[in-house]
Amino acid sequence: MFGRVKPLDAILATAEKKSLHRSLGWLQLTLFGIGCVIGTGIFVLTAVGAQKAGPGLMLAFAIAGAVCVVAALCYAEVAAMIPVAGSAYTYSYATMGEFFAWTVGWALIMEYAIAASAVSVGWSGYFTGTILGGLGIDLPTWLRGGPLALGGIEGGFINLPALLIALLVTWLLIIGTSESAKVNAVLVAIKVAALTVFVAVTLTSPEFDSAKFNPFLPAGVFGGFGTGVGAVGAAATMFFAYVGFDAVSTAAEETKNPQRNVPIGLVGSLLFCTVFYILVAAGAIGTLGGQPIMGATGVPLEAGSVELARQCAMPEHASALVCSNEPLAHVLRVLGFSWFGNAIGIAAILALPSVILVLMYGQTRIFFVMSRDGLLPEVLSRVHPKFRTPHVVTAITGVAVAVAAAFFPVGQLADISNAGTLYAFLMVAVAVLVLRRTDPRRVRNFRVPAVWFVAPLTVIGCVFLFLNLPTAAMLFLPGWSVLGVFVYFLYSRSRSQLGRGIVEVHEAEYAEIEPDIPGVEDRGRP
Ligand code: ALA
Repeated sequence: MFGRVKPLDAILATAEKKSLHRSLGWLQLTLFGIGCVIGTGIFVLTAVGAQKAGPGLMLAFAIAGAVCVVAALCYAEVAAMIPVAGSAYTYSYATMGEFFAWTVGWALIMEYAIAASAVSVGWSGYFTGTILGGLGIDLPTWLRGGPLALGGIEGGFINLPALLIALLVTWLLIIGTSESAKVNAVLVAIKVAALTVFVAVTLTSPEFDSAKFNPFLPAGVFGGFGTGVGAVGAAATMFFAYVGFDAVSTAAEETKNPQRNVPIGLVGSLLFCTVFYILVAAGAIGTLGGQPIMGATGVPLEAGSVELARQCAMPEHASALVCSNEPLAHVLRVLGFSWFGNAIGIAAILALPSVILVLMYGQTRIFFVMSRDGLLPEVLSRVHPKFRTPHVVTAITGVAVAVAAAFFPVGQLADISNAGTLYAFLMVAVAVLVLRRTDPRRVRNFRVPAVWFVAPLTVIGCVFLFLNLPTAAMLFLPGWSVLGVFVYFLYSRSRSQLGRGIVEVHEAEYAEIEPDIPGVEDRGRP
């Protein structure tokens, strides 16, 4: 079971055959990274993070960013070395063997799909508030959010806008829509401009008062494992705001001078976002205040809980940061800058669908590679004759994403997605160490500095954040994994190409169905 390690040379030969033109520089990679990263995390989860940590949200961004930076260095080494589709799944296949690769792929399927649901719910908050609210359209309560029992709203049944945006993006993916470098650059500019305006307006506002940061850590640094509160509990949730940078690693094959540019693209986009996130949190809390709503025990009420929803429905919490579904726009409106608030809302509405697109695309990519390896049914990787996209898997994914988005709240979805991502990041760090031992002589275009310190630190950081997720999100991963282990032993193991002795070097068949990676203009396909 553990001996089925895919030979690295076969994987690399696949990459050779694609022989993509190396056209990307560090700036394009960094822009690509920022395009994937900035989304619901900062635009929406800021409210959830403040409910967990109060002003300690700023510390939470720093902690989550630090874990991502060390993970990014590990990604840079393997990505520059094994620059092929499938990312963490492929790296694991070449190092720890099929079973572990399966668990990583299975976790990534969940991660990407649920992350796409979370971003859909985030989009819905801005759409309902800014567009419908602005036009005076009163969507009935039962169509505005999921049921209260699931952490939705009083009188809610289904989040219709979230459902519709997820289905719209699915349809775009099926007909082969991709985001060009130009569209990505425009969306990055919109997002960065929106956040810059937010920071400038709030930090210079007369309402800004350092007293609002007091107490800085109302729930402490460490709220206890499984509670999901305190600065570290908030970090485990806000980790979502950085998810997506790993997509940069998938462009390693097309990067000029990858030993320099891949790490700059990965770490550069993360550092840029970290600084912005901390400034945004400071601006929101310094003006509107961001203390959590406490329960009877003096601990913040759980984000997405029925009790918090009830408290938020009370008039005294009508303007609380922690209760808003569109926190950044809300802050500016309360400060009297309705116009800027609406502009931020429109920026989020324009930019978030591209994050959903990238996430769902990542999901189908993993599905495709696993199916090509024989671990998932071939029908899943079937390519549409006209659109040349993997329409079957995209449709299945899209329906699952839409259903989850329709009924669950954004914070819970982000936490569940984070659990899967943390597992994948951990396995990439282990893969780096395993390859240093088993294949020390292979050329590495980028080497993690102080690897025996940085990679174990990544593992520790991922485990630590995982243990600080709320218990329900933590338990989702083992539950999903048990299901995955059943599928592996009942289906995949006996059908595995590698298990049947077939080690193919694939032609560029995947590239045929692959929409252009955002940020990549000249792919120079053979
Ligand atoms: N990092 C992405 C977001 O925050 C997934 O939306």
